[in-house]
Amino acid sequence: MGDIREILFDARAISDKVSELAACISRDYEGRELVLLCVLKGAVTFTADLMRKLTMPVFVDFIQTASYGASKASTQKVIIKKDAEIDIRGRDVLLLDTIIDTGNTLGCLIRKYEDKKPASIKAAVLLNKRLRRTTEVPIAYCGFEVPDMFVVGYGMDFAEKYRNLPYIASIRND
Ligand code: IMP
Ligand code: MG
Repeated sequence: MGDIREILFDARAISDKVSELAACISRDYEGRELVLLCVLKGAVTFTADLMRKLTMPVFVDFIQTASYGASKASTQKVIIKKDAEIDIRGRDVLLLDTIIDTGNTLGCLIRKYEDKKPASIKAAVLLNKRLRRTTEVPIAYCGFEVPDMFVVGYGMDFAEKYRNLPYIASIRND
């Protein structure tokens, strides 16, 4: 675990925060059905934990993106590598990602899926790197604020490593 610097949120803190978010979402969508769109791969853990704490009928689907273009994230184009199979027209949709950074990914996804005419589309993230935002994106449900540092664990990777860590940690950048 040589890259790990500091544990920011342990498994207990994460679980408590996910419960808090789930309670808000369950209250807001009470009496309705909700389609969860999990952004692969990072949001797998968040989705698996959150969905089990929701009290309304839930449908789950998975999407995967890739970005290309100039190296600056704000100018990158997001393409959908794997699209959802559920038809979201007329349905309430919640996009789930573990972290929002520049906002490029979720911003593009919200715009793309709005074109499919869902009844509503919102986004939920566990972590918010607000300082790095280059695109304003409405986030309906937000867990923790994190400073401008690279974090891993709870689904998030550094070169595909550390997704399995039960906690969220910062990594060394030297
Ligand atoms: P954005 O498009 O810049 O908002 O970036 C969102 C995506 O970048 C997330 O879905 C993650 O896959 C990845 N990402 C951003 N910051 C981090 C981080 O600190 N650790 C791991 N992945 C990150
Ligand atoms: Mg990654």
